[in-house]
Amino acid sequence: MLSPVYAPYPLVVERAEGVRIYTDKGVFLDTYSGIGVLPLGHSRSEVVRAIQEKSERFTHLSNYFLDPDAPALAEMLFAMTGRKGEVFFANSGAEAVEAALKAVKKNREGALVSFEGNFHGRTLGALSVTWGPSIRHPFDPLIPHCAFLPLKGDALLKFARENEIAAVFLECIQGNSGVFPIPEDLAEAVTDLQKERGVLVVADEIQAGLGRTGKFFAYEHFGIRPDIIAMGKGIGGGLPLGAAIFCEWSPFASGEHGSTFAPNPVSLAAGRATLSLITPSLLKDVARKGERFRERLALLSWARGTRGTGLMIGVSAENPGEVKKKAFERGVLLNVTGGGIRFLPALTITDAEIDEILSLLNF
Ligand SMILES: Cc1ncc(COP(=O)(O)O)c(C=O)c1O
Repeated sequence: MLSPVYAPYPLVVERAEGVRIYTDKGVFLDTYSGIGVLPLGHSRSEVVRAIQEKSERFTHLSNYFLDPDAPALAEMLFAMTGRKGEVFFANSGAEAVEAALKAVKKNREGALVSFEGNFHGRTLGALSVTWGPSIRHPFDPLIPHCAFLPLKGDALLKFARENEIAAVFLECIQGNSGVFPIPEDLAEAVTDLQKERGVLVVADEIQAGLGRTGKFFAYEHFGIRPDIIAMGKGIGGGLPLGAAIFCEWSPFASGEHGSTFAPNPVSLAAGRATLSLITPSLLKDVARKGERFRERLALLSWARGTRGTGLMIGVSAENPGEVKKKAFERGVLLNVTGGGIRFLPALTITDAEIDEILSLLNF
């Protein structure tokens, strides 16, 4: 028996390619790329080749060996930040957040500030800064001194007047809560506290990063300059990989943090192949396609307002479960989260595929 934590589709998958999943019950269109894990879609040939080539050489060596793909991928990430620093590779998004939490706790005292609606993962540390009392409270007590504030600059400044803050955890565009961007005044308040009080800024880019919003990092839309960037999902090109990027500092000494598996060499190779294809022209196209997708989505009879940036799109519906069911019957897989429907399609989705999905969702 499996743990009942998941509710898988009644499908057996034969293969998957681009936005299509071929199953024993027909072909399905994937509108959320394996929960945002496949920025280039399923089975992208360059990524598959990188996986094959690497795994024919070795699949795991342990951290007693330096795989040249690790510093190479770290360099690629730093090239996107325009900054210098250190990367700790992990196996998942939550593990990247754990590394960020440990770096913060080691280096600064004070509250860990998160916001209503934030999602940072389900390990105990990441859960401590994740909103959603219902998913957090069964596991109380979690890390102490975590505060959840409304997504408002004045709420953060008021809290800062009364409390010492170690770090602020930001999901610049909240994904699991239904695709909600942070307001400008919150971004300004965060930057002020960082400059004036040395508060550490942790940008969780696990879902919104890697080009999903039309910029490589979602924080770029908000003028944020993070001290730590947490990455996950697509960074391993479909294989498990996470990264905590420490900008202009070095939080850990030798032996202070680690993982048996991370970084997996095959994931690193897939990550390098993936990142090399997330080009400025793809990012521009993501912004254009996202606008086109949102405009046409808004015309559907069941759509009650769309939100989002680039190809990270949320739409409300009176009965999202019913919409998901109808879509499934027509061969479209929808992801219901935060009380609405969330689209995280492959960044390489074509206009024709967007139109195909939307025409199937026209009921
Ligand atoms: C913004 C954000 N942070 C953290 C996580 C946790 O990542 P993982 O599921 O890889 O542990 C997720 C996963 O959905 C996420 O969307």
